[in-house]
Amino acid sequence: MDITILKSTAQAMVAKGKGILAADESSKTIQKRFDKIGLKSTPETNISYRKMLFSTPQFEKYISGVILYDETIRQSIDGTPVPQYLQRKGVIAGIKVDRGVVDLPNFTGEKITEGLDSLRSRLEEYKAFGAKFAKWRAVITIGEGIPTDTCIEANAQNLAIYAAFCQEQSIVPIVEPEVLMDGDFDLEKCKEVSTKTLKKTFEKLRAHKVVLEGVILKPNMIISAKLSTTKASAKEIAKATVETFLEVVPKEVPGIVFLSGGQTPNQATENLYEINLIPGRRWQLSYSYGRALQDEAIISWAGKDENIKLAQGSFLARCKKVSLARQGKL
Ligand code: 13P
Repeated sequence: MDITILKSTAQAMVAKGKGILAADESSKTIQKRFDKIGLKSTPETNISYRKMLFSTPQFEKYISGVILYDETIRQSIDGTPVPQYLQRKGVIAGIKVDRGVVDLPNFTGEKITEGLDSLRSRLEEYKAFGAKFAKWRAVITIGEGIPTDTCIEANAQNLAIYAAFCQEQSIVPIVEPEVLMDGDFDLEKCKEVSTKTLKKTFEKLRAHKVVLEGVILKPNMIISAKLSTTKASAKEIAKATVETFLEVVPKEVPGIVFLSGGQTPNQATENLYEINLIPGRRWQLSYSYGRALQDEAIISWAGKDENIKLAQGSFLARCKKVSLARQGKL
């Protein structure tokens, strides 16, 4: 483990005005995105789409790093392996290393993330490809009687073991305990569950001797659920979000990069803007959006070469708005 590398990679990931593009959709998830434009996901269509995104002129002004999927890190753009293609633009390559979620046995409605098996050797391989950071997503669901303490603890434990394996290779772990927006709960419920989840996550990270200066946290914002009847405003979301993190996130953590989690691009931008207006923040508060950065571009592209310029324009415009929001500007 090289702590200097870990710290400098983590700092670069949350450099001023920049954030991360989550382009690590699994084959199953990218098909869901392509369904909106009637396109079949194949290794060829997947790389055409990602080439459209990654070849957008100037996107590196707003994007510090890109999270890749296993298929993509092995592919090339114009004859250059994807990690090196990104590196030439000054963009850091990262890799999703979890293998998705499955039902947690004996705990109806709850999930556990898979992927610890052979993680050391997979990280060694990804490092040789050029990956400098990684991602692992844990999922916490709010519902009748859930989440249980067992589910939170099991997921926090796996996140910590994953993070320790990453740091062993001097790869910065993005630690993502996502409390889903699905359901009808209010902001307070989200705050309660997120606080509990984050506390347990940091307890386990410490127990596994993970160096917090070399970790990036990727959480949900504190938000009301999609079907909640009491919709929280952007200002309320921002206040609750920063309050929660001040309570549970140690100051050593260099940055917090939010997931968009089903918010529209505009909501994810406005909420980030309000978050960055709150005084007393002690970390970089940035983005690692998947859908909120890509939704407009994918529709403009529609799988057609003649739409590439248009789609790149949509993508760049959204990257710029989110970057401004992250700096407390609109
Ligand atoms: P969304 O921003 O679409 O939630 O995706 C971010 C991500 O990487 C989830 O793991």
